[in-house]
Amino acid sequence: MATMNTTAQMEAQQHFTKLTNCRNRKRLKNSLCGYSHVVSSTYTSISLWMCLLTVVFCLVALCPYPARALMLDARGRLISQHPRCRDARLKDATKMADVVVSGKVVKLLQDEAHSTIDHRMMKGEIEVKRVFKGENMVDQMAEIMPGRLRPHKMVMVEGFGDPGICHNSVRERDTKIFLLKPNGNGELKLNSSVVTLTLRNLDYVDAVVHSEYKGDNRQDGS
Ligand SMILES: *[C@@H]1O[C@H](CO)[C@@H](O)[C@H](O)[C@H]1NC(C)=O
Repeated sequence: MATMNTTAQMEAQQHFTKLTNCRNRKRLKNSLCGYSHVVSSTYTSISLWMCLLTVVFCLVALCPYPARALMLDARGRLISQHPRCRDARLKDATKMADVVVSGKVVKLLQDEAHSTIDHRMMKGEIEVKRVFKGENMVDQMAEIMPGRLRPHKMVMVEGFGDPGICHNSVRERDTKIFLLKPNGNGELKLNSSVVTLTLRNLDYVDAVVHSEYKGDNRQDGS
């Protein structure tokens, strides 16, 4: 054993010396150097293939989403990367909606009637905080619930999970701005993305609604 070890060590030592020598002298045609050259070029081509395979894999994996919708809101911020949604600017979306409210999602329910295998749709009970637009419609549709401080209006909103809407999901207890249309069944549905509740967004939506009414004589009569 000991001799074998020593022999092996000596061989390794020689091998190393030859390698070092041939590197030092740049004698690449030396058989040992040639061998190491073959090994390293094998590694090189393996890593090249790995690289190529990775690139091909990435291309194939990303293929279903070539045209992601990259939407900007009224201030040019990116608001969506949903693959198939279309979204209007907040200004246009506000004008397009018949009802604009801020409110809190009190409860989310499965919307079996509108769900498909691909898309689970939800509807939500929204506690209305402030009505920017469509007060009459809200009053017609809302249920008045007694509250701790004062009664509040509850409306049912459907369309959460709608793949045609970019920001289409909420969680219970979220407070958001909702841009809505009547759904034809005495309830409301999302017409565009759910809007984050910030002071700027509140002011902005308010300003758009006001400028709209200034132009056409407060059509909803509120
Ligand atoms: C929003 O309302 C407009 C105008 O009625 C309509 O064309 C559009 O399809 C609605 N969007 C959604 C997601 O329902």
